Amino acid sequence: MENDYFCDNVFCLNIKMRENVFDNLLQQLSFGPKVPAEVWRALIAELDDVQKGRLALLAREVSQTHFGKGVYVRALIEISSYCRNNCHYCGLRSGNRLAQRYRLDKEQILECCHQAAALGFNTFVLQGGEDPMQTDEWIADVVAAIRDEYPAKAITLSVGERTTTGYELLRNAGADRYLLRHETANAGHYSHLHPRSMDIDNRRRCLADLKRLGYQVGSGMMVGSPQQSVEHIVEDLMFLDELQPQMIGIGPFIPAAGTPFADEQAGSIDETLLLISLLRLRFPKALIPATTAVSTLCDNGTQRAVLAGANVVMPNMTPIDYRDKYSIYNNKKSNGCESAQQLELLSEKLDGIGYYVDFARGDYLQ
Ligand code: 5AD
Ligand code: SF4
Repeated sequence: MENDYFCDNVFCLNIKMRENVFDNLLQQLSFGPKVPAEVWRALIAELDDVQKGRLALLAREVSQTHFGKGVYVRALIEISSYCRNNCHYCGLRSGNRLAQRYRLDKEQILECCHQAAALGFNTFVLQGGEDPMQTDEWIADVVAAIRDEYPAKAITLSVGERTTTGYELLRNAGADRYLLRHETANAGHYSHLHPRSMDIDNRRRCLADLKRLGYQVGSGMMVGSPQQSVEHIVEDLMFLDELQPQMIGIGPFIPAAGTPFADEQAGSIDETLLLISLLRLRFPKALIPATTAVSTLCDNGTQRAVLAGANVVMPNMTPIDYRDKYSIYNNKKSNGCESAQQLELLSEKLDGIGYYVDFARGDYLQ
């Protein structure tokens, strides 16, 4: 009897201690001036399922405090599947002979914007590989034309590494936001994922330029990319904490046919969702998308990402004929629906979890 009593107490004490440790981690995550590496490590790798559940719930609450149950939508236009780079993980890499190539011309891009605007979108995202034909000047001209027609809408670019003057030109033409994932903050891991011609310092220079030029900046990494370790993710999170991006996009790595990593394992959805929740708690006001990679690996990925703290979705408004050709990884989610129908489907999905599509511009609010 006495023994039982003793065991019970030790058990309770143990739980209490774990709870205190967890509360302390959460405290540091949400309010600490800097999150030490060991705190990130514990949060990424040492939580039990109950703690992970609590974390997701907290992240959802924080997201709702700032954004209510609205999920911002951005019209994604994939402007070119050509790329001069040869990133080992990406289906659009220049060395991929299986890749199908296309590029949209100015009129096609403007037509996508017209359709998106008619549906109510207030942000256009022009995303593409680093297509040598789509020079800074060419993109600046397209941006200026969109800006001319839509003075009040947000224009986001996601067209890779460029020179400082290139970024300047695009900003002056009217671009407001720029997405450029850092992919990994560890130099050794960066060289494992990229060819010798690319280096981490240039990626960092680009991100610093973009911030200095007054873009709202998005960065992020793949989860579960080949040879990624917990330590690498810790470095990624510490890098983001320094950069303070306004938008953070993460998604699981998914193997792509015709690339050196074609036979590697995909990243984990659960780990991605856990990281979304951690990011929401560390960056309460950040714009965090439920990425296509999440919904590619998981049927109700969009809903799960929103419930984990994401607050943005980027429906694909690329003309249907080209959509399958923008094949960054295998089986990339593309429902083949016309734009309007896609939006309806999204609306239904969000409705199912008590959320709704928010068409506002959704700028980062200080
Ligand atoms: N799996 C998941 N994400 C990928 N990306 C590129 N290739 C893959 C892949 N195989 C992501 C990169 C890039 C963004 C456009 O797509 O993070 O920045
Ligand atoms: Fe090009 Fe971007 Fe793909 Fe690298 S990740 S090959 S830069 S499209």
